[in-house]
Amino acid sequence: MDAKDLYQKLKDVKIGGHICRFTMEKCRELAPLINEINQLKKEKNAVILVHSYVSAEIAYGVGDFVGDSYGLSKDAMNTKADVIIFCAVKFMAETAKILNPEKEVLIPSELNGCTLADSITHIQVQKLKREFPDYTFVCYINTTADVKAECDVCVTSSNCYDIIEAIPNDKIMFLPDKLMGKNIIKEMESRGVKKDIKLTNGTCYVHEEYAPEMIDYIRLQYPQAEVLSHPECHPNVIQKSDFIGSTAQLLKHMKSSKSKEFLLLTECGLSSHFQVEMPEKKIVGTCTLCKYMKSNTLEDIFRVLKNPRPQDRIVIEESTRGKALKSLQEMFRYTENKVAVPAA
Ligand code: 13P
Ligand code: SF4
Repeated sequence: MDAKDLYQKLKDVKIGGHICRFTMEKCRELAPLINEINQLKKEKNAVILVHSYVSAEIAYGVGDFVGDSYGLSKDAMNTKADVIIFCAVKFMAETAKILNPEKEVLIPSELNGCTLADSITHIQVQKLKREFPDYTFVCYINTTADVKAECDVCVTSSNCYDIIEAIPNDKIMFLPDKLMGKNIIKEMESRGVKKDIKLTNGTCYVHEEYAPEMIDYIRLQYPQAEVLSHPECHPNVIQKSDFIGSTAQLLKHMKSSKSKEFLLLTECGLSSHFQVEMPEKKIVGTCTLCKYMKSNTLEDIFRVLKNPRPQDRIVIEESTRGKALKSLQEMFRYTENKVAVPAA
């Protein structure tokens, strides 16, 4: 890839108004490292999976698959590569390892966190299971492998409503996202599904910042703008939104929508994809950055490909992996029966 190709791809990306722009000069700076990574990737038979929130130069420069947490789990399951470089957050790379125990899974991100995954431990889940033995434990994918191992079914933002409706138990413990949990309760009410859904106390620090007043303010100036939000937002935000979905579902919706203006209430990475893929449409209003997702850099991707350190490798104890795999298998079974899921 030369600097001109990269510039053609990224020239419309503007993060924070005009603060972050991909100029021709910037692309000239980035292109040599991108080419080195792509060469090394071939030599090592590696594949690079990139979450939609990760920086545009990674997604469009070196990414083989770019998507939401559900799509990337499936890509991880289907890859023939020997090495998976997971540019996202640690729990997503753990999911890839749970599905591919024989493959090397490496993480370039320096900040291995996520406020949701960090909000609950497997010890706390064990305690809840003793307190609520007849509940089905449903974990959001934004949890550690240890927590997934304690739960019955895993869900993502793309399938949480349908899976919870389909679970043949009216007693559900949903963890750890309190706001997504409240949205699930509302959605079940609107579908006429009666379930007792208990929640724990986690939130995503990026999505909890959005408030309904922001939507009112933007609509004063852009009354035609379509408001799209992620299910990790507060129910008051969801109520005022026109469309709610996972990152991949939001992007798909924008592509098919007749609207020309959008307020996108999720992480800025998704706005970049929008600007690259739909330059004729406009994002009005701001998005927010996730420091964990943005801690992935081209330099670190190069380093983990060339010479990974022990802390760059995902290692999961086999008994934990086997149990966590069952909760993922349940998710795939509910979502698409046809998908061949690795055996526990
Ligand atoms: P998706 O399931 O839409 O990929 O979201 C994951 C996430 O971390 C959102 O904050
Ligand atoms: Fe976690 Fe929120 Fe970042 Fe997603 S955006 S990885 S939920 S902190």
